[in-house]
Amino acid sequence: MSKTKSAFFCQNCGYESTKWVGKCPSCEQWNTFVEEVIVKGNDKSPKDDWKDFHGAGSTLKTVSINDVSSAEEKRILTNDAELNRVLGGGIVLGSIVLVAGEPGIGKSTLFLQNGLMLKDVVTLYISGEESEQQIKMRADRVGMMNENFYLLTETNTQTIFKEIKKLKPQLVIVDSIQTLQSPFVESSPGSISQIRECAAEMQRYAKETGTPVFLIGHITKDGNIAGPKILEHMVDTVLQFEGDRHYAYRILRTLKNRFGSTSELGIYEMTGEGMRPVNNPSEILITQKEDQLSGIAIAATIEGMRPLLIETQALVTQSVYGTPQRTVSGFDLRRLQLLLAVLEKRGGFHFGVKDVFINIAGGIKVEDPSIDLAIVCALLSSYEDVSLPQFICFAGEVGLSGEIRAVNRIEQRIAEAEKLGFEKIIVSKYNAKSLGKLKFNIDVVALGKVEEVYKYLF
Ligand code: TYD
Ligand code: MG
Repeated sequence: MSKTKSAFFCQNCGYESTKWVGKCPSCEQWNTFVEEVIVKGNDKSPKDDWKDFHGAGSTLKTVSINDVSSAEEKRILTNDAELNRVLGGGIVLGSIVLVAGEPGIGKSTLFLQNGLMLKDVVTLYISGEESEQQIKMRADRVGMMNENFYLLTETNTQTIFKEIKKLKPQLVIVDSIQTLQSPFVESSPGSISQIRECAAEMQRYAKETGTPVFLIGHITKDGNIAGPKILEHMVDTVLQFEGDRHYAYRILRTLKNRFGSTSELGIYEMTGEGMRPVNNPSEILITQKEDQLSGIAIAATIEGMRPLLIETQALVTQSVYGTPQRTVSGFDLRRLQLLLAVLEKRGGFHFGVKDVFINIAGGIKVEDPSIDLAIVCALLSSYEDVSLPQFICFAGEVGLSGEIRAVNRIEQRIAEAEKLGFEKIIVSKYNAKSLGKLKFNIDVVALGKVEEVYKYLF
């Protein structure tokens, strides 16, 4: 019997509806519903398989939790320490990992390179985007060869599984999930129902055979195009690749991990020969110059589990137009507006008639609120056009009343600053209490308010 079934899907969040609606009830976006055919009219659709599970002959599958062995999950250790770290200590067998990132950021390069480095693991790299020649050219570029590394340029999931049965790989990389196509679903590749079905098939394969699967997925700049987002709950681990294409540095961040911490982070540098893991990121993120310039302050942040010293840059100029401009790169615009309001109200600085630009060096996006104090000092430095003393760095969150709030893991930040040869670090006085009698070779200055910092510096 031939019957087709269709449904409407929100292209933004994946919400499913039986009829077309103008506004998505889930994500409240307008005009995002598209009709997709979900079941092809043949009786062998995978949905029918489920009937077997409820059939009379099926045996009990329920087990008592006491009978489940608590063996440590087995992992494949890659040669890339950064990747191992973000995965929580290597690739867990049978896990399914989504790697999301903007096009051109280096997802294919990183996973091709890691596959090639795993000499003892039979790896299958499925590409629906590039030809074998293109991949080979890229492999030549990263300068690695591996006889255990297999390529498959195919998008049909059933053909892929046939190949997988023959090859029996120990690791599968799918580049990208948006190009896969399941014959059981009729809508076009990249549509919500296709992505969902293909990922489900891959997940079943991973769980049943214990083979780890990496799914590479594209997202757009705002990070919320349908596709990969709807997979987040299905997969075990979500890694996000971030960074500005125009800069060399890339951050691989763990957004979800069933096998490890979600506050991990790996840093890479895109070079002519592929991605290079960066082991001591602080050193390259600070452009230490002989002569200090105004508007530059160094923040001692913690990204993931790692301390990271980052250069923040501010430019404050007289406004030419009626409405002053606020432009940020790598920093939250609203946060900047908040900090400017605090400086205006508590410090009496007239930022209202100034254009303000903020930039975080290296094209890195920082989420740690402890960067506030450095931003404030960079702003003041540019405002006064006086450079800050050399070898000084900052770690503190700024509150609405201009108070400098304590930040977490202050010892680690101080230790990193000390390691990099800084002479002074300005922290919150509330942090100083917890430091107690700890001794550092760096001068730790504990202050309570933004005004005190200003007095101290200028
Ligand atoms: P790619 O891995 O194709 O990105 P994605 O799969 O996320 O879309 O990388 C794209 C960019 O990386 C491309 O502009 C070329 C650049 N690149 C290098 O700079 N060095 C290299 O060794 C390689 C292979 C690529
Ligand atoms: Mg790619």
